[in-house]
Formats: sequence, C-alpha cells, structure tokens
Amino acid sequence: MMDLFSEIEEPEREELKNLRKELEEANYKYYVLNMPTLSDREFDEKMHRLQALEAMFPDMFDPKSPTQHVGSDLGVTGNGLRVTGNKFETVKHKYPMLSLANSYSREEIEDWVRKLPAGVEIVCELKFDGLSISLWYEHGVLTRALTRGDGVQGDDVIANIKTIPSIPWRIDRTDIPDFFELRGEVLLPWERFEALNKEREEEEEPLFANPRNAASGTLKLQDPKEVARRGLEAYLYYMLGENLPGTTHYERLETAKQWGFHISDAIKVCHNVDEVMAYIAYWDTERKNLPVATDGIVLKVNDLAQQEELGFTAKTPRWAIAYKFPAEKQLTLFKEITYQVGRTGVVTPVANLEPVQLSGTIVQRATLHNEDFIKSLDIRPGDRVWVEKGGEIIPKIVGRADRNDEMSATTSLNDGMMYSFPDVCPECGAKLVRVEGEAAWRCPNEAGCPPQIKGKIEHFVSRKAMNIDGLGEETIDLFYQKGLLHNIADIYDLKLEDIASQERLGEKSAQNILDGIEASKNVPWARVLFALGIRMVGETTAKKIARKYNTIDALQWATAEQLCAIEDVGPQIAENIVKYFEDIRNLEILDRLRKAGLQMEGEAEPEPTSDKLAGLSIVISGTFSHHSRDEYKAMIEENGGKNVGSVSKKTSFILAGENMGPEKRKKAEDLGIRLMTEDEFLELVNGNL
Ligand code: IVH
Repeated sequence: MMDLFSEIEEPEREELKNLRKELEEANYKYYVLNMPTLSDREFDEKMHRLQALEAMFPDMFDPKSPTQHVGSDLGVTGNGLRVTGNKFETVKHKYPMLSLANSYSREEIEDWVRKLPAGVEIVCELKFDGLSISLWYEHGVLTRALTRGDGVQGDDVIANIKTIPSIPWRIDRTDIPDFFELRGEVLLPWERFEALNKEREEEEEPLFANPRNAASGTLKLQDPKEVARRGLEAYLYYMLGENLPGTTHYERLETAKQWGFHISDAIKVCHNVDEVMAYIAYWDTERKNLPVATDGIVLKVNDLAQQEELGFTAKTPRWAIAYKFPAEKQLTLFKEITYQVGRTGVVTPVANLEPVQLSGTIVQRATLHNEDFIKSLDIRPGDRVWVEKGGEIIPKIVGRADRNDEMSATTSLNDGMMYSFPDVCPECGAKLVRVEGEAAWRCPNEAGCPPQIKGKIEHFVSRKAMNIDGLGEETIDLFYQKGLLHNIADIYDLKLEDIASQERLGEKSAQNILDGIEASKNVPWARVLFALGIRMVGETTAKKIARKYNTIDALQWATAEQLCAIEDVGPQIAENIVKYFEDIRNLEILDRLRKAGLQMEGEAEPEPTSDKLAGLSIVISGTFSHHSRDEYKAMIEENGGKNVGSVSKKTSFILAGENMGPEKRKKAEDLGIRLMTEDEFLELVNGNL
C-alpha cells in the first residue's frame, strides 16, 4: 500500500521541488538583478501552489523554502546591494584547485611529452587569462560558484556568477550525475573592459590595468546588478566528479557542451609535438581576434586513465602543462621624455624609445604616468627600460634594467642626468599647477592651450555628448589649424562653404557635418551639460545635476553648498561647477550656444511645496494602502526631503509599510532608526505639525 501511495505522490513531490527552485530563481532575478522573469500574477499562483503542496507533504518542510521567508529579499537592500557584511561565504573545495606548470619553448614541451606514455593524445586548449571558478551542480542545480581562494578553500560568489548569461543555473536532463563540478575561467571581454574603463575615465575613477584585474574587481563586488551591467563571460574547461561520462577529457568537454555549457571551439586533439606547435603558432596570431584575453595554451593528456596514472605533484597535475605566449614586455633603449597635454590639462610624461616590436605592433612611445613615477624609476637617457602592452591601448614603462647589467647600454650617458618635471606647459607656456593630493600636474590655461581646446571640442561632439557625426579628431585639428574652430560655440557658426573648401572634404561630407550639427540642437539638456566638459562632471553626474537644476540659469546661480546636496556631487565637483560659471569666457560661449538653439532646459523636478522634510533622508519600505510608493517618493521630494534606497546611520526615518523586508527592519533596529507608519507620515506631511 505504502509503495502505491508514494508512487502516486511522486510527481507532486517533484513538482514541489521544481517550484521551490523556480520561485527562488524568480526572487533572485526580481530582487537582486531587477530583471523580473515572472509577472506578479504568475508568481503568486506558483507560490500558492507551492504552499498547497507543502501542506500536503509536511515531511518535506524546509525552512529555506521561498514560502518561509517574508518578502524574499533576504540579504538584499532596496537598491539590490547585498548586506551580508561585505563578505562571501568561504567554502572548502571538493578537489583542490591546482595551478599548472609553465613552459615557454618547444624544448620544454618536448621534455614534458617525453615523460608521457608513448602515442599519447594531447588536447590543446586556449589558456584564458581571467580568474578560475569552480561551479557545483547538485541534482542539476548550480549550488556553488567558488573562486580559487588559496586552492583549498574559496569564496562562494554564486550571486555574481549567476549574472553570466552563458552559465546555466539548472540542467534539465536525466542523464547527468547527482553531483559534478565544472571549472573554468571568468573573464571580462575586451569590449566590455574598454567600455568600462572609458566610463571610469569620464567619471575620473581609477582605471583597471587589464581585463583580468577588471574581472577580479567585478567578481568581488557586493552588487550583482552592477556585475550584470559590466557583462562578465566564462569559458569552462574541466569536469570533475564521480561517475562522470566518457573516457577522455575531450569527450567530457563535448558532453559538457551538449549539456549547455560554454566550451571554447578552439579545442584540438594533437598526436605529436609538431601538431602542438602548429596549434600554438596559429593561436599566437589568431588570439588577437578573440573577444577575450588569452595568455597561452594548455596541453592536457586526453585519456583519463592515463591522467590518473600520471597523477599530481603537490602543486600541479603531471598530465597537464601550460605554454605561455612570449611575454608582451620588451627591453628597449630609452631616449628622452616628452610631455603630452590632455583634454583636461593633465601633463603626462611620455618616454620616447628605440622602436621595439610588441604584441604585433611597433612601439616607440610609452607612458611614464606622472612625476612620482619618474622619480621612483630614476630614469636617465641611455637606460634600458621594460615596456609592456597589457590590456591598455597605451603601452607603459614598467621598469628599468639594472645599469650594471650587461644588457644595459653604456653608463657614460647616465651620469647625473636626473629629470625634473617642467614647471610650464610644453604646449602654451602657462605655469603648471599641482593639485594637492593628486599626482598629476595640470596646465590651468583651459581656454588658450591648443590640446585642451581641441580636446574639449572632441569631447563636445563625442557620441555620448552631442553626437555630431563627421567631426572627428583629424577634422577638428584641421579646422583648428585653419582658424575655423576655437571653442565649442564656433561649431554652430560653421558654413557649408567654409567646410567644403577644405582639402579632403567635399560638399557631401560638409553637408553631413552640418546635418550632424543641426541634429545636435535636439540633444537633451543633461547631455548638453555633460558635453560642456566641466571637470569631473561625467555623464551620470550631469544627469543628476540636470534633474535638480533644469535650466542653465538655475545652475549658474547655484552655490557650492547647494550643489553638494545633489547625490554624487562632492565639494570638488561643486567647486569646478562654480568656477566654470565664474569664467566670463564660458558665459560668452554659453550665450552663443543658447542663441544657436541648444537645449539649455529640461524636465523640471517638482519644486518643493514645503520644507517640512528639508534635510531628511527617508527610506521607503514595504507595501502601502493609501498611496503607491511612487506617490510617497514624490511627496517626500515635494516637501524638501530626500528619498534614499538603503538604510544607513544617516537615514532620518523609515516610512514603513506592510511586509517590510526583515533585513531592513533589523538594520533599522540596530541603528535605532525610527519606523514611521503610513498614517503617521501622512499626518506629518499634511497635518499642521
Ligand atoms: S586546466 C588542474 N585549462 O590557468 C588543472 N586551466 O595557470 C586545471 N586556465 O588555474 C586547469 N585556461 O585558472 C585549464 N584551458 C584551460 C585554462 C586554464 C586558463 C587557468 C586556470 C589555471 C591557470 C593555471
């Protein structure tokens, strides 16, 4: 009898388990990623069904079930930040995460192959240059995503890993083992890396040196939404576990591919060193066209029985070895320093070098960063320096060879020639200034220094700013030389005949430029503000400022103190804005831009009707019966308050509705922050308190 019952019950137990998984995923996507996958109605229906099934099978009670936690935003604040104390769970690896022995030449590969059984098959793969990750699948569900850590235990970064679209959260198949692990590499593709750095440059945030660092920084973020936005990728290359299918490594990767995992197509089974070397030669060139960074190839014994026999040393497997592509770093002769002035006036020292071949291009100039770097390197003419081309577009000097080294040039040139940073701008002769706390020297002559003038115009026409097609760097330089462009307002005085009469520019391209200029007159106010190129006012900051100050006149009269009240605007940015409007030359330019018809006004944010909530930071949490959340947000702003997303010690009070998130409630209690009911709030705002 019992058996018969459990057979009948089985599909429903299965349904119960599946519903839990599905609702957990839906919660995660809704609360953490802000990308809902189910409508509210679908969610509720599924939740009710799960509750009914759980009532039917009390033996399947699970405190972790989605039916058991209120609001389901456990561990996540209102703006998606996890509040687990800035830490990830540390978990012991099921199998230690080892590294690989490196090799650099055919000889070293031959040495390794010699120690393998005769006739062995070798799988060649790309060596991805990111961070290793270990994915655990239990009963088909992704349950852990561990970083390498110290090789014995790693951090569980599953919330961030789940933002990678190519990583399955669940494998719906019956032919998979109860447990298996897939290891691979997490990377930030070149394109995303460059976009991220560009964004950081605009916001004047420190840049990532290469995609690997960027991926590493991203994987450790506590905000999966931001991780999702940055766009990580992963390639998987190693399956572990018990009762796994197949007898060769290659077969296992093929199987993993069929199960839906992202496996590189570059994998090849080789039978001798010649074939391996051909693979290396091919990919050493071809890797430049890949979307992600690679730093070598990995050679693995294909047969799993042979792998087992070969085993491991303390640190690395004997059945695999890495071959590293020739270092993208070269030693070359340093000749002299020249100084380059950028758009914002920063003066960058550039090393002029004896031309050297580096990752497919000839390098003869490399950055020396700033004065402090030059001092610490103690570089002198005739030195030999290491130049490196990492992820960055601009090569950089990373070190100097020892002067006594036989590789170094004669020391006769080196005597006493220390460099001192110039005190005037190499482009316009203005006296340089060094802002306290900054490593850079700047030319303050914004309006008269040629690279700053041209740089400002380039920024103004760029895609995220006024987006004027046809006006590229070269054209701007040409127009500047010809006296047609001296500042951004001159753009709107350009005439068809001025442009078309320039060499290289016919009537058609001249008309294109003019069309682009005309179209830019519809660019919204926030982007116009960004386009002005006020120092440290990046795209996002400009948006926030434009929302608060919806006309340029309002902004012009704002004091530094008032500007600081805007989210993201600190004293430095505020001062830059105030200074910008103090400069009469800027005011003249703005006047001309206004007359040209640019959008100097935008949507107004509701004016506060009272100052009842002035200076207060208010968090809204839970669900309400009298008004919607948006209405409460508007009410806060209309009364001069600020609606903020997460609870901190700066929070004045929480407008608390029904079902307030437990984390928020706890945090509020810990910090002693008042919870105000909906009625109390309405009385505060509407009553005569
Ligand atoms: S196999 C026990 N295959 O390189 C060997 N590793 O320097 C497991 N890597 O820790 C690693 N691409 O993070 C393997 N196709 C590939 C790889 C690869 C990159 C990384 C991995 C490893 C490191 C060793």
